[in-house]
Amino acid sequence: MKQTLMVIAGAALMAAVLTAQAPAQPAAAPAGNADTGKKLFVSNGCWQCHGYEGQGGVAGARLAGRLMPFAGFTAYVRRPVNQMPPYVEKVLPTADLARIYAYLQSRPAAPPVASIPLLQK
Ligand code: HEC
Repeated sequence: MKQTLMVIAGAALMAAVLTAQAPAQPAAAPAGNADTGKKLFVSNGCWQCHGYEGQGGVAGARLAGRLMPFAGFTAYVRRPVNQMPPYVEKVLPTADLARIYAYLQSRPAAPPVASIPLLQK
């Protein structure tokens, strides 16, 4: 019981700290260098599941052209819901994550199906 209370108190404190650190405009991503981001996307192994261009693959979702706001992106990478391994701050600092985000933002969205001749009847 005491332990449970301490965990709850710890979680509340964590939430307070996280809220205090949240940027004024959560939708705006911090500036990050896309070239460095590309290197980090590779060195951290994101490409293995999501593809070098973030185009998606057998193991990971498409990221290019369908990025969520930076706050959600960070939250997801820190605590993924299914198959993806978690990347904690110690392993992948938020500043580096911002660079990865900048790289993914620089990748083009998928072309519309109607623009691909091979996919027409
Ligand atoms: C071992 C494979 C794997 C690796 C490595 C991996 N991911 Fe994922 N990722 C996934 C899978 C699979 C999903 C789909 C949901 C799930 O199963 O977690 C996903 C989902 C995501 C999503 C949510 C996409 C959405 O729109 O719902 C983001 C953002 C993401 N990954 C970013 C990253 C980043 C950044 C890295 C590297 C730091 C990374 N992933 C490394 C497998 C991986």
